[in-house]
Amino acid sequence: MRLYVNVDHVATVRQARRTDEPDPVEAASRCERAGADGITVHLREDRRHIQDDDVHRLARAVTTVLNLELATSEDIVQLACALRPHQATLVPERRQEITTEGGLDLSGDTGRLAEVAGRLADVGIRVSLFIDPDVPTIDRAAAMHGVAAIELHTGEYANTYRTADTALHRLLAASAHARAAGLAVHAGHGLTYRNVTPVAAIGEIEELNIGHSIVSRAIMHGMEEAVREMRRLVDVARVDQPKASP
Ligand code: PXP
Repeated sequence: MRLYVNVDHVATVRQARRTDEPDPVEAASRCERAGADGITVHLREDRRHIQDDDVHRLARAVTTVLNLELATSEDIVQLACALRPHQATLVPERRQEITTEGGLDLSGDTGRLAEVAGRLADVGIRVSLFIDPDVPTIDRAAAMHGVAAIELHTGEYANTYRTADTALHRLLAASAHARAAGLAVHAGHGLTYRNVTPVAAIGEIEELNIGHSIVSRAIMHGMEEAVREMRRLVDVARVDQPKASP
């Protein structure tokens, strides 16, 4: 099983101040040193976290593989074709959404999506489509030129796993169906330290994309060290100074 770590929310923290820390590229290197098989970022149309420059720098710095998530806006498709990441995962995008809510709708006019998938594949990028675990949608993905893989949206599973196993069964059935249709099967969205195990155990799934939960844990686990270091700097600055009078 490949674990790709999504570092978008490292950039979310940076963008809160529009400064240069924390750097998602440095985070990516740290992820790789800790065993990540790949780095995932989503260059959103509104550039709310990852910026174009991050993608350029990641394309140079990543030593594993880069998985670029994108919608079909032309400027981002052109950037992908120029940088040629190992993989491009096509996702739906709505400006007001907090995160990617729901997979691609392949039931209507898929002309633009098919054109983009074909262009990406033609320059040698592995193309994956982010879709819901739904059999007709999987069949439509399998029929599209240039599509090597699907990423099953695990959001419903993440929202319901505590009370029902329906969503897990959907993922199991969808994974088997997709594999039989010749597609590589990936999964992601909303996976956490608490809910990942049953999904990671699905034999047909070969890649997981996990972001928010890992970044959340990194913040918590790094907090004590971060405060200790600042405490030390503040205290050292005062060592040689006479004590302020009370
Ligand atoms: N896969 C896709 C296609 C996504 O859009 C996202 C969210 O950016 C993820 C995986 C990672 O989701 P999470 O941050 O909830 O782990």
